[in-house]
This record gives sequence, structure tokens and C-alpha cells, in this order.
Amino acid sequence: MASLRQTFLFMGLLVMALVAVAAPEPQSQVSAPAVSRKSAPAAAAEPIIDYRERFIPVVARHGMVVGPEQLAAEIGTQILRQGGNAVDAAVATGFALAVTYPRAGNLAGGGFMLIHLADGNRQTLVDYRESAPAAATRDMFLDAEGALDHSREYFSLQSAGVPGTVAGLLYALDKYGTLDRAQVLAPAIALAAQGLPVSFALSFEIAASAERLRQNPAAAHVFFKADGSAYDIGETWRQPDLAWTLTQIRDHGAEGFYRGEVAQRITAEMAAGGGLITAQDLAAYRVVERQPVRGNYRGFEVVSTPPPSSGGVHILQILNILEGYDLQAMGHNSAAYLHHLTEAMKLAYADRSVYLADPDFVDVPVQQLIDKAYATRQRARIDSRKATPAAQIAPGRPLGGESTETTHYSVADRFGNVVSNTYTLNFSFGSNIVVPGTGMLLNNEMADFSTSPGNANAFGLVQGEANSIAPGKRPLSSMSPTIVLRDGKPWLATGSPGGSVIISTVLQMALNAMEFDMNVATAAAEPRIHHQWMPDVLRMEEGFSPDTIRLLEAMGQPVDIAGRTSGRTNSIMLEDGWLYGATDARRPGGWVAGY
Ligand code: GLY
Repeated sequence: MASLRQTFLFMGLLVMALVAVAAPEPQSQVSAPAVSRKSAPAAAAEPIIDYRERFIPVVARHGMVVGPEQLAAEIGTQILRQGGNAVDAAVATGFALAVTYPRAGNLAGGGFMLIHLADGNRQTLVDYRESAPAAATRDMFLDAEGALDHSREYFSLQSAGVPGTVAGLLYALDKYGTLDRAQVLAPAIALAAQGLPVSFALSFEIAASAERLRQNPAAAHVFFKADGSAYDIGETWRQPDLAWTLTQIRDHGAEGFYRGEVAQRITAEMAAGGGLITAQDLAAYRVVERQPVRGNYRGFEVVSTPPPSSGGVHILQILNILEGYDLQAMGHNSAAYLHHLTEAMKLAYADRSVYLADPDFVDVPVQQLIDKAYATRQRARIDSRKATPAAQIAPGRPLGGESTETTHYSVADRFGNVVSNTYTLNFSFGSNIVVPGTGMLLNNEMADFSTSPGNANAFGLVQGEANSIAPGKRPLSSMSPTIVLRDGKPWLATGSPGGSVIISTVLQMALNAMEFDMNVATAAAEPRIHHQWMPDVLRMEEGFSPDTIRLLEAMGQPVDIAGRTSGRTNSIMLEDGWLYGATDARRPGGWVAGY
């Protein structure tokens, strides 16, 4: 693969001279010359463009933030320019997204931050996933007949787990950042207090959830004008209550959220509305720093998110299975390739239904699941010519619910640190409930537990007893912030929202780059598939050839041209001293900010 890149070098150098006059301006926020990833030798002074690639990343030299929204990405980059490191920028971006991207940016949600530290050339994972309140019980969402009460599960105060975001961002800042709290929070506070112009994307997102947001008076107060009408594109949207909450955090740190006035407003709302979160739950919330999971794929090292996310384990499992095939000979997105990818996904997602859960409550056999020998055994179950019906796939015996929303951003600094962060409220706008006087939405992450063990959740994921509800436990996630290393150095930082499709999205992003030598923008743009074992459906995005679809159907694949897209990556590739960024065009508003 590397040699292929070298082959393209001459062409790259040739066209470079033309770039300045022939190419359209790169995105205006980037001052570096336009161009793409195809590698120049390590000593190259300039990045190289290859005009055979249909999608060109944004390029920067020193620092970059790629995220779902412009203002927050620019705030992160401003922090980098001021001398902050990637963790400072990631924390500032996380707080800013709580203001600018309310469908998934948050204070009262949770997530995972994967950090590559240049100092020591190592990676660590900050787990700030929500946890179940002490009063939570296994069957709390079942009604008297034993049926799931979806309204309580998704859209009530009981659907909220104890929030982890504020603790997680501040933990990362204290331990791995260099700036102080006031510096990283100042831009978010200013935006909330002074207001931001409503973008097309924001207006579109609020409109899509308007009916439900209007059902909660505090949410209606935040997201609509006093007369109940929506803010127009370009109008200034102020969030004074959220500015107050952020100020409490600035002035008092995590205590300002988990104790004191903010905590009192949360618990008062819980007590009044049948919610479970108490002052003790908030005070007891703890971040857990964990070892990421890691594995090798054809010489690349893939570092990803461990339980209580299932993401990293299954990405590695699937890569291990696929490593036994000559994927390049099959051809990218050929029917043969997609068939093998699908069969490997089914095996991994079947394992998810049984083995994955909060490792502090359940013994998750991580090393066995990501063992190459287990992959060899699993590969033997795949018929290269024919789909195996999901019903015939029992979860494997290793040797020895989720939502379509969430958000991801990637950050790289000039010191060599890299952050890959995914955090969420679960559904778009979470439970759609705002805590009065705080301006912040509550998550509905309790729905990510196995709320009715053995049955499929709202997203079709079958989950077992391991992920059942228990006090203090963290619900199983699919969030998969990932960093791929090449020659021991960060090469690709990526991640995605999308509930169960996060895993298949990040997997295909990484495969496109590692196996098929695509630049980061092309790797993001290629159409994707998703199969999660149950239901037995192969979801395919638009963009595959009808011939390919026919061949897959002939192999017995239950193809569904889903009419919706899979995931939304925000990624950075690091090559030869250059940063190449790409935000997925599948959603409006994404942004690459670099300098
Ligand atoms: N709530 C989405 C996830 O954790 O995967």
C-alpha cells in the first residue's frame, strides 16, 4: 500500500505546481495550501494532491479540529492557536457543542474520550459514560403485563442516567490538559450568553424534533421564542440558563455540577416528576480511566474503546476475521467484499448480544473475543458463496439499544497529541426534557440497557442479561472513538454517531483507509453497509451498483436499500507532518477547522 502511494508521488508533485492556479480555493478557514494525502517522502515540504481522488480533505499544518458544527470546531482550533494542547481543545469543543449542537452536544450526557499522548507515545481512555441511579431496577421499564413502557424508557425523567460529561471533560482537562477551566469554558459561556446565529443545520435539527421538544415546557422555553414560534435561520439564539450552568462549572469545577445549585435543580426536577436521580447519585458519579482495546490489522495498530462500549471489541473482531481474506483481490465494495464484510459483522454482533456489558459488573471476555485464533474459528463459519441466515448464527464461544444520534469529533495538535471523542444524549435531544433553570437537556441513556432482556430494543439490537439494569451500572454503548497507528504513530483518528451503526461505520472508515489506501475524505464518502445480526437485514446506503446488489441478493443477502445513511464520521489523518481532515457530508453543518 505504501508503495502504491510512492508511485503516485511524481504525479502529485507535477500537479502541485498547478494547484495554486487551477484548483478552487480550499475551505476558507484553512491557511495551508490545498490538497490531499498521497504521501510524499517524510522530508517533503508540502502536501501532495492526487487528482484521481474524487474527494479531497482539508489540509493544515499545526492543529485541527473536525466536528459536527462550525463554531465549536473553530473554538477548539482557537484554543490550539493559543497554545493549548489537543485535550484542552477537545474539552473546549465539548463544552461549546453543548451550546451550539444541542441534539447531541451536551452537559447532561456521557461518552468516551480516547487520547493519544505524545509524551510517552501511549493511549488512554476516559470513560464518562452515564451510570444507573441507585434506585434503578432490572425491570423498571416493564409495565404490569411485563411489556416495555417505551414512553417511560425514552422520554421520561426515569430514562436519564447519572450524567458523566462534565466530570469526564474536567477529568481529562485536569489530568492531560494545560489550560485552566476558565480558559476552556469562556467561549462556550460567551456563546450561550450572547447568543449564536441560527444556522440552517440547527434550524433543521430543532424543526425535526419540534413536536416532542414542545411537549416539555422547559425545553419549549429554550428552543422556541416566547410566542412559541421557531427561530429563523440567521436570528440570534441566546441560552442564558445554560450560560449560568456553564458559569457554575467554571467557578466550582465538577462540584459546581454534581453538588450545589445545579445539582439541586436536577434533583428537584427528578423528585417532582418521578425521576430517580438523587443528590447522592450525582455526588457519587465517577469517571473511570481505562486501557483502550488494541489489535493489529496488516501492520496497522487499531486502538479503540473498551467496555462498557462494545465498539472497539467488535471492530477488532471483524478486522481479525477479514484479515484472513484477500480483500484487495475481491475489490472495494464488490459483492464478494461486501458479502464477507456482512458475514463477519453478523458473527460479531451476535457475540455482542451475549458477552458485552459494563466490565465493572460483568466479566467480559475481551481478550478472548479479540484473539486471532478465535477469529480463525469464526471465519470457518463463513460460507464465501452464500449468506448464513441470522437465525442459524448462535453467538460464538470464544476460546477460553441504542440511538441513531450521538456525536464525534477529532482533534490533533502541533505537539503530536490526538483526541478522538464521542459523546451523546442517546436520542437526538436525548429525553427531550430540559431541567428548568439550567438550559440543559437530559440524556435518555437508560434505554441503552437491556430493558427487556432477550428482546430487541428500539434499534433492533437484541441484548441479554449481561446488560440488564443495576444500580451504578453503565449501559452498554456502541461508541467507538478510534485511533489507528502506523509505524507506532497516530495515523487516523475517527469515530461516528449512529447507535449500532457506529461500529460498522468506523470499521468501514478504517478499512477504506488501511486496506484500500483511500485518503480520509474518500474513505468517509464511500457508501457503507450495516448488518447487526438481528434483524436479519443487510442495510445498504444509496450509491452501490445495481449489479452488486443483484449479486448479493443471489448469495442470499437480505438487502434493504435503507433510504437512510449510516453514521457520520469526523476524522483526521496524520501523514508526513500534515493534518488531513474530513467531515462526513451525510449530515449538514460539519466543519474542519485547522491552521
Ligand atoms: N447511545 C448510543 C451509544 O452509546 O452507543
